[in-house]
Amino acid sequence: ANVIAADFVKSSVRPDDCPRDGLPEFALVGRSNVGKSSLLNSLVRRKRLALTSKKPGKTQCINHFKVNDSWYLVDLPGYGYAAAPQEARMNWDEFTRNYFLSRENLVSVFLLIDASIPAKKIDLDYASWLGQNKVPMTLVFTKCDKRKKKKNGGKRPEENVQNFQSLIREYFEAAPPWIMTSGVTNQGRDEILLHMSQLRNY
Ligand code: GTP
Ligand code: MG
Repeated sequence: ANVIAADFVKSSVRPDDCPRDGLPEFALVGRSNVGKSSLLNSLVRRKRLALTSKKPGKTQCINHFKVNDSWYLVDLPGYGYAAAPQEARMNWDEFTRNYFLSRENLVSVFLLIDASIPAKKIDLDYASWLGQNKVPMTLVFTKCDKRKKKKNGGKRPEENVQNFQSLIREYFEAAPPWIMTSGVTNQGRDEILLHMSQLRNY
């Protein structure tokens, strides 16, 4: 499951513009600032392949990165970023949902959830939407390196994760696979790469 090479291929704003070579791909989605681009960099062991930012709303297109010349990682804009213009947000939301529904070579969506804060309705709703639309999904809990803080609800990441899991149970007959990660310590990196290689069947 080693990453030997990773290259940026293209940015698209419509599913039709995405690469057409049919290689298997995995998409990273989640709330703005949850750590999608950071996780992508951690997976491919590159600091700045996907651009990250302290400010939410950094990634605004469907970005394809080719790994080992044989599969794709896809970085997507986040949802729920209140400060972006309404029209821009609706546009990102529309093309990412269209992408999920139409992309035939999409093996699994990796839905990122911030483990350093209590479960949010917007994330539960997103998980439920993916489930209702039969989009294969893996839950990735991010920022598991963060210590508990009063202003973030005063719970440890492990507690937030458990709570999220029990809340989504009502939407799913079988709970989706889940992995705890940190882009800072690279926790979960190998587990995700192994899971992706199992899903690709090689
Ligand atoms: P958008 O592109 O705006 O939707 O955001 P994103 O989900 O791609 O988030 P990004 O990777 O840009 O990270 C947002 C901020 O969170 C940055 O300041 C990162 O350094 C920080 N961050 C990301 N992952 C982790 C993590 O695992 N632990 C900690 N402590 N911080 C993280
Ligand atoms: Mg990003």
